[in-house]
Amino acid sequence: MSSLLKITDLHVSVGETPILKGVNMEIRQGEVHALMGPNGSGKSTLAYALAGHPNYFVTSGSIDIDGVEITELGADERARLGMFLAFQYPVVIPGVKVADFIRHAVSNIRNPDRKEGEGLVPMREFRREIRERMEALNMDTEFARRYLNDGFSGGEKKRMEILQMAMLQPRFAILDETDSGLDSDAVRVVSEGLARLSGPQMGVLIITHHERLLEFNRPQFTHVMLGGRIVETGDASLAHELHANGYATVRERHPEAAADNAQTVAAVTT
Ligand SMILES: Nc1ncnc2c1ncn2[C@@H]1O[C@H](COP(=O)(O)OP(=O)(O)OP(=O)(O)O)[C@@H](O)[C@H]1O
Ligand SMILES: [Mg+2]
Repeated sequence: MSSLLKITDLHVSVGETPILKGVNMEIRQGEVHALMGPNGSGKSTLAYALAGHPNYFVTSGSIDIDGVEITELGADERARLGMFLAFQYPVVIPGVKVADFIRHAVSNIRNPDRKEGEGLVPMREFRREIRERMEALNMDTEFARRYLNDGFSGGEKKRMEILQMAMLQPRFAILDETDSGLDSDAVRVVSEGLARLSGPQMGVLIITHHERLLEFNRPQFTHVMLGGRIVETGDASLAHELHANGYATVRERHPEAAADNAQTVAAVTT
């Protein structure tokens, strides 16, 4: 049976400011969803809430995986339930190699009760596995020997994300791909990597304005966020329409949410 990530009437605040105002979404294993919406509509806030970031308070509603409520769980426990959030990983850890970091992350998931220094996936087995996955992704295996994020280019950071996904085999992957700072190499790595990894075992939520990403990974569902809620859901053609025409018509169709969107942005920027 396939798993279901279900977000129900989710309200999230940052400090005293309510940002998400009743978000509903259901992502099944195997489905690709795109989340779009203008700046400040709450897309990253949803991603952070899914990650359990401490600054994002769930004030009501729920997030569950197959009926197991995850709202109160820490990042490790969420990972064990099969959630993968690309951006939650540390930026730099001095002296740690890519392979070591991934070996720990994989061991945490496979041996949930392991204590530090114990229960690591055996080296030989791990090496074989990571080599196979890297070859399947057309990645140079030398990359595994690099120190984590030590001078990584945009493309290398994305290689790291994709390799982690390949090794952790999450049931649900949430990718918040900011548009600024994604060079063309990085976009290519993400779009090709995702296309190789996604399949019946993985549900994906891609947050992006990048047309290329969604061309390689055609979403079955496109959600439009405005003023902290999802105002429209369609298929891949909706993503295409938004790329071509922007959000003016969406704002016209949902004036109340549009006013909320403007207000939240103003509250934070003034
Ligand atoms: N940590 C924070 N502190 C203060 N305000 C925040 C914080 N995080 C988000 N917000 C506010 O919440 C609103 C939604 O922001 P969010 O980053 O979720 O939008 P977004 O849809 O991801 O936008 P973008 O397309 O620019 O990435 C904005 O008004 C933003 O300023
Ligand atoms: Mg964002």
